[in-house]
Amino acid sequence: MQLQNDLLLRAAKGEYTERTPVWLMRQAGRILKEYRATREKAGSFIQLVTNPELAAEVTIQPVDLLCVDAAIIFSDILVIPEAMGLPYVMEEKKGPQFPNTIQSAADIDKLHIAQGEEELGYVAEALRITKRELNGRVPLIGFAGAPFTIFAYMVEGSGSKTFSKAKAMLYREPVLAHQLLQKITDSTINYLKMQITAGVDILQLFDSWAGVLSPEAYSEFSLAYISQICDAITEVPVTVFAKGAFFALPEMANLNCRTIGLDWNMSAADARKVLPNHTLQGNLDPCVLYAEPQQIVKQTKAMIDSFGIGKHIANLGHGVYPDINPDAVRIFIDTVKTYSAEKVAQSK
Ligand code: CP3
Repeated sequence: MQLQNDLLLRAAKGEYTERTPVWLMRQAGRILKEYRATREKAGSFIQLVTNPELAAEVTIQPVDLLCVDAAIIFSDILVIPEAMGLPYVMEEKKGPQFPNTIQSAADIDKLHIAQGEEELGYVAEALRITKRELNGRVPLIGFAGAPFTIFAYMVEGSGSKTFSKAKAMLYREPVLAHQLLQKITDSTINYLKMQITAGVDILQLFDSWAGVLSPEAYSEFSLAYISQICDAITEVPVTVFAKGAFFALPEMANLNCRTIGLDWNMSAADARKVLPNHTLQGNLDPCVLYAEPQQIVKQTKAMIDSFGIGKHIANLGHGVYPDINPDAVRIFIDTVKTYSAEKVAQSK
């Protein structure tokens, strides 16, 4: 089906757009009271993730309520460990927890490579429903965690400031670590192919914990696997967002992906120098959205100026925080739209 608004896809491909497209990481859920009402109806977070009708509903809410230029499927990166045989629980205020973790070769042997529909058919169904209900209004973004970030949760068992247990495995048992990373990578490729078949228009990899690694470790234990995924996905454009990995941008120039996401620690000018061929996504500090409206407008305009027009997808530098007011998000979105359109018009 022809999309009515394909700004995001054209920007990802480096084509001309009449303004800069905008969406927010973690826009589905977290900040909208309408999301909390649907989650209530589902029972729990995991029940919502595994209920295709309701997952589709919360995926579309930000398109209707915030007027973003894309929908991102409501799910979680942790559905992959679960599909491989390592289930998670989501504890209020504590975030995700794994009752069992991966520590040994025997643990890795017990994991299986996720095939796609078989274990994750509920995500495919949510994508099909979303695609039908969006009816071509905006593109649909699919996603997965990058292998290192998934590895970090599977070994550590929860979120962590340092991910010491996960990093200990990299240095003590690198062969084991590589075996686990390869199993995750193979599962992720199957999962992303399933998402493509179900109708996603573009895919994003979230490497949320990239910033805990040294440049050398990042290259060996993360980029090598991200690179395999980028090479395997040829059907739709791919975005790689590696939080905290400013040091890896020059090496990321070699990735077979269209867009690189930036957090707020990275400057657009520096990124443009080392990534001349990629579209860039980002990167307003989410905390700007706690400020007064004039300040949000000022900072958003400065961000648009820093990236310039073209080859840019506006976003925050990480997911929107749960206590941010949706009205502040609307100011950000409206400013991106009107200010970038003015700049395009002036440049003619
Ligand atoms: O972007 C979207 O809106 C789509 C949905 C989405 C969720 N999680 C829903 C969710 C996406 C893309 C994710 C990715 C994800 N999940 C990441 C990578 C992105 C990032 O922020 O770095 C990570 C690290 C996770 C793991 C995870 N899931 C954590 C740490 C938590 C708890 C804290 C929190 O709110 O992030 C979750 C739970 C989760 N995933 C919620 C949502 C809406 C909150 C649960 C709830 O309160 O309903």
